[in-house]
Amino acid sequence: MKNKIENYIKEVNSFSADNLQELEDFRVKFLSKKGIIPALFGEFKTVPPEERKEMGQLINELKITVQKKIVNLREKLKASSHNEKQLYDLTLPVNDNLGGRHPLSIVRNEIIEIFSRIGFSVSEGPEIEDDFHNFTALNFPEEHPARDMQDTFFIEKDPDIALRTHTSSVQVRVMENNQPPIRTISPGRVFRNEAISARAHCIFHQVEGLYVDKGVSFTDLKQTLFYFAKELFGEHTRIRFRPSYFPFTEPSAEMDVSCNICGGKGCNICKYTGWVEILGCGMVDPNVLKACEIDDREFTGFAFGMGIERITMLKYQVNDLRLFFENDLRFLNQFRSSVD
Ligand code: PHE
Repeated sequence: MKNKIENYIKEVNSFSADNLQELEDFRVKFLSKKGIIPALFGEFKTVPPEERKEMGQLINELKITVQKKIVNLREKLKASSHNEKQLYDLTLPVNDNLGGRHPLSIVRNEIIEIFSRIGFSVSEGPEIEDDFHNFTALNFPEEHPARDMQDTFFIEKDPDIALRTHTSSVQVRVMENNQPPIRTISPGRVFRNEAISARAHCIFHQVEGLYVDKGVSFTDLKQTLFYFAKELFGEHTRIRFRPSYFPFTEPSAEMDVSCNICGGKGCNICKYTGWVEILGCGMVDPNVLKACEIDDREFTGFAFGMGIERITMLKYQVNDLRLFFENDLRFLNQFRSSVD
């Protein structure tokens, strides 16, 4: 019996398996109810008492050797099947699960592209602004009701620090640090304390533009924005200007484009007028130039500002602005193939 067990131990030590089935057969051969080890324990009952200790130890040694072998071989087989999985299959189609640009980024980039073609640079500035850059330099007098036009999220009072309500603040910074000619647009996030609805949100995105030089006139303003609207919405787009008021421009106007959700027939986005307001604009008020230390007798300028959400809604016929902020993949996936 001793010889038999020692031979089994040798056999186990030299055993190896190429796959999990071979390993399972090995386990059954030794450990299952009708396997070798239970049979040896059965035989053990007939061993004379003086040999029992030695035989018992040998059978146990065999059992432990078998168990260790199984654990080791199982690990090895698992590791090698893992390696096989990591081999690359170059015939597989390209992973189509890549991300895509957010529609607001697509449109922002398009707006930047159009203006950069006619010589506008891009400037950026802080989202947390002081009162001077957001209001005072832009000709909002202290306590003037015009400050209520844009409901502000204040962070600190006296001196006032707030989330910027428009990116006109960036243009003040550009004018402070540069002399004309200045031709720049400032895209960015802005904040207003407004109720959230299909048409408004308390966080949204703007692109504002500024052109200051000698002899800049309202004709330049109109022609620039006409070019922009046709590039963005297509040749067929109609445009109209309506007189308006902003503290920082004089004269001021709002520009409408024909509503391309309903084609001008009237829908809830254009409030059944056939027109959608897309931007505010005007000639830079001389007080703004003065506040930024630009000589208002030598230079004139125009400025404009638009909300990216509004324009994206028109371009892609989205009828609820809140969709841009919900990150619902069913919505976002529709823009995946768009070029940016
Ligand atoms: N700053 C204005 C706004 O946020 C937009 C605007 C910019 C209007 C420049 C006129 C000129 O509504």
